[in-house]
Amino acid sequence: MAEKDLSLSAITDNLGTGFIGQKILYYPRLASTMTVAKKQARQGAAEGTVVIAGEQTAGRGRLERLWLTPRGNIALSIILYPGKDYLPYLVMVSSLAVVRSIEAVTGLTARIKWPNDVLINGKKVGGILVETQFSGKKVAYSVVGIGINVRLRPADYPDLQYPATSLVTELGRPVSRPDLLRYLFSEFESLYCSLPLADSIVEEWRGRLVMLGRNIRVGQGDRLLEGIAESVASDGSLLLRLPDGNCTRIVAGDVTLIWT
Ligand code: BTN
Repeated sequence: MAEKDLSLSAITDNLGTGFIGQKILYYPRLASTMTVAKKQARQGAAEGTVVIAGEQTAGRGRLERLWLTPRGNIALSIILYPGKDYLPYLVMVSSLAVVRSIEAVTGLTARIKWPNDVLINGKKVGGILVETQFSGKKVAYSVVGIGINVRLRPADYPDLQYPATSLVTELGRPVSRPDLLRYLFSEFESLYCSLPLADSIVEEWRGRLVMLGRNIRVGQGDRLLEGIAESVASDGSLLLRLPDGNCTRIVAGDVTLIWT
């Protein structure tokens, strides 16, 4: 049987990290871990503090979308105080940590859909939301929100705007959330600590992307661009080859990719 409530000691006992997950604030039910984590960051919480929700009632995704977190899934926010030069890499670090931990714990193959979706068999299983607060030109804090569908049953949510899945749906057996979280914290920390010299991170991230070389549509406000996803630059932006042969650079944060 999969565990019903998260046991904090199952996550933290002998956790081999230096700071990520060394302090966990667990809430059985809250609106969004992002809001709580930002408040904690403003109050000076230690770097690596993680806010975890058993259930979110107003989880949010990119582009002001709703993120569903019924019980049995993973919804967390990590508090960081990065240098400004770390910022382009936070989404890469987070998505790679999610992919690596899913693969290690379940044996499933996970891929990344630019910029921040984690997919299994072409369906969304996880998402990343990075929110950064500046104080003048310096970063005051960043909060990395990670959602992973562990036990979500997509069939229960016919209104979802994209194909979704969950680890249990794909695997057909229970998945240990404490195991997943321990891997996640450890992978996140090792990737984060290698910043800002991030060549190997960018390379691995590129290699895990699903859409390179494929025809895609990019919604940018009320503009719709179509072209071939040519490459991603080392700052994470997407290079789109347009039908006229020109290349345009799409910056993460304001686009929706549509498969064609
Ligand atoms: C996306 O795919 O658009 C990003 C989804 C991010 C969801 C996570 S769940 C934990 C954290 N709290 C939230 O309200 N959102 C993020």
